[in-house]
Amino acid sequence: MALKLAVFGNPIAHSMSPLIHQHFAKLHGHEISYERLLVEGSFKEAADAFFSSGGLGCNITVPCKIEAYEFAHELTDRARIAKAVNTLKRIQSADGNERYIGDNTDGFGFYSDLLRLNAPLQQAKVLVIGAGGAARGILPSLLSKEAALSELTLVNRTVSKASQLLQGLDEVLLDRSEAKCRACTFDDLLPDDHYDVIINSTSLSVSKELPKIPDSIYTHAAFAYDLYYTKTGSTVFTDKASSLGVKACFDGLGMLVGQATLSYELWTGVRPDIGATLDYLRSELG
Ligand code: ATR
Repeated sequence: MALKLAVFGNPIAHSMSPLIHQHFAKLHGHEISYERLLVEGSFKEAADAFFSSGGLGCNITVPCKIEAYEFAHELTDRARIAKAVNTLKRIQSADGNERYIGDNTDGFGFYSDLLRLNAPLQQAKVLVIGAGGAARGILPSLLSKEAALSELTLVNRTVSKASQLLQGLDEVLLDRSEAKCRACTFDDLLPDDHYDVIINSTSLSVSKELPKIPDSIYTHAAFAYDLYYTKTGSTVFTDKASSLGVKACFDGLGMLVGQATLSYELWTGVRPDIGATLDYLRSELG
């Protein structure tokens, strides 16, 4: 019987997740169904209906990740740190009751994409722009011992959000590297500041706007990544970085596929390769 899977969110019509997971299933010879489910009322009600009709697992996107976090009976460390769940799986406990495991695969998706793209992270000075939910998802991997950054600057329009985010992570991260961290506003960024890697985690690219950072910050950087993705693989942010000489500029489609590989593994026990599905998606989008 086909594994019953879905993605919940609002809006949801644009979600690429069905395409990605169907492609994984094709590559691995699995039979799945994967629907987009629009959540207009409570996430809990929608999820209860899905699981009681045989659902095995689901992805959760904006704005339901916090409700999914509250819905889960058990959380992975990643989900606990992110305080948000993007993947649920139904399991049966020893006493025969249904239980839901909540995971957050966004950070893994991001980090595995950076590794795939050979981002120069070791001993790097990294600028992360934006301190919302997306930044919360990616910061734990950037602050891990494995990434081994030398400095991380978190710039946000509302600096208190950036400071609170860094402070909150400091309290929960177990394998925190020695990276020096600071939170600042856009006005604190100086034209002479040097960052090897710049990452845009704001929602600005959606409306084709650029973060207010000095041009010279792009000029000094070797690698630029936008968490937003487009059909063409470039965003206003990666276009700007590229025009100012950044050699390696990428949108977030690889991160999207990366987070999906780990969700798929949670449901099926098999972790698909990012590259093969990324090529397929680009051709479908094109
Ligand atoms: P959420 O915070 O709801 O999880 P997100 O997309 O992860 O959403 O984060 C939105 C980010 O984009 C925030 O860092 C936000 O800055 P504030 O915290 O100051 O709101 C940033 N952002 C959105 N619009 C912006 C703008 N016009 N200029 C600068 N930053 C902006």
